[in-house]
Amino acid sequence: MKDIRLLLVDDEDDFRQTLAKRLAKKGIPPEQAENGEKALSILEKKEMDVVVLDVKMPGMDGIEVLRHIKKKHPRTEVIFLTGHAATQDGVDGIKTGAFDYLSKPIEFEHLLSKIKQAYEKVEREEEKLREAEFRNKMEQQMATTERLASLGTLAAGVAHEINNPLAIINESAGWLKLIINKEEMAQMPRKQDFEMALNKIEKGVDRARRITHQLLGFAKKDDSVLAELNLSELADEAIQLVNREMANKEIEIIRETAPNTGTIWSDPYQLRQVLINLITNAIHATESGGKITVMLEAVNGEINLTVQDNGQGIPKENLDKIFEPFFSTKSPGEGTGLGLSVTRGIIEKLCGTIQVKSRLGHGTSFCIRLPRYCEIKEDLDQDERIPFLDKIAKQGGSTQ
Ligand SMILES: Nc1ncnc2c1ncn2[C@@H]1O[C@H](COP(=O)(O)OP(=O)(O)OP(=O)(O)O)[C@@H](O)[C@H]1O
Ligand SMILES: [Mg+2]
Repeated sequence: MKDIRLLLVDDEDDFRQTLAKRLAKKGIPPEQAENGEKALSILEKKEMDVVVLDVKMPGMDGIEVLRHIKKKHPRTEVIFLTGHAATQDGVDGIKTGAFDYLSKPIEFEHLLSKIKQAYEKVEREEEKLREAEFRNKMEQQMATTERLASLGTLAAGVAHEINNPLAIINESAGWLKLIINKEEMAQMPRKQDFEMALNKIEKGVDRARRITHQLLGFAKKDDSVLAELNLSELADEAIQLVNREMANKEIEIIRETAPNTGTIWSDPYQLRQVLINLITNAIHATESGGKITVMLEAVNGEINLTVQDNGQGIPKENLDKIFEPFFSTKSPGEGTGLGLSVTRGIIEKLCGTIQVKSRLGHGTSFCIRLPRYCEIKEDLDQDERIPFLDKIAKQGGSTQ
């Protein structure tokens, strides 16, 4: 009873003040209001558990005040004080949502026990609310876990399915290369063009394979190439590659490289993938006339790579989700929702971190920190991978 927040509303000053003193002595010092308007303005500023409310007051009468309270502060319980033998007022009060009513002259102990009962109801309701919130949260968590499990299954299935045709394409390209390099093909018209096209096919297959491996977190140590690379050149290359995404859009891509950036040891293929993902997202989020900046600088022995746009921004409620696999706000066919999850996977494997800052309607910036040298991380050992896949399969179905 000690913490109970009580508001006493009555236009009879003597009655109200005497009652307030007695309640204070019992450890419940109430706030006081001499009319309905004042009571509502107190409630606007401070939440109350119980309101003891006189029915007959000049200005707003008790029923009207009660209606307002129930509408704006539904968790507050109201005890009505009615005039002597005015039972109908009390009944009307209860119909409008009052907890109970007492007829004047009131018996103090009776009022005290009603206040206590009303407060217990408030506590019960709050407990129910907390339970419902907890249940809701758990259900949401379970739904996310289930979703991720089935996404994992789907990813495993997709990667498995795609790796087979990729192997066929690769083998066939190799076979064609062998043929055109045979002696009898020495005079083949446009031989060089064929060779170039075949090399492109092989490179494309190689990249697609890397993505499927990355997607599953299965990239083995030997899958990652560690080389000394110039991030600035890599950024230029990535911008060239995403140029076609800008068709029909006038977007300026600004490059800023601090002179102390130099080179780093990392995986050029995977970092190119990261740059392509981030710049493509920035282009998609930016209207014609917008600006994208790709910045590089060295800070405390690490390299900061920032891709910033002044596009549509990301709503706060999506900021936690954008790195989840398959989360996309783009229409089907335009986005798979894998870009950022792959990106984060790559960056973490390359010993780096990635952070996002965004303001809705103003733009977004992704900031990556990379060490100058990284021993490529293995998240799972080969032996651990099999049970991992098994687990996913059991949770969400088959991986085949
Ligand atoms: N620069 C950005 N500005 C605004 N929203 C962004 C930006 N980058 C990412 N997003 C949001 O994050 C979501 C997830 O991005 P992600 O790259 O993972 O997938 P996607 O771009 O939708 O599809 P894809 O797999 O083809 O890349 C996007 O759908 C978009 O809502
Ligand atoms: Mg993307």
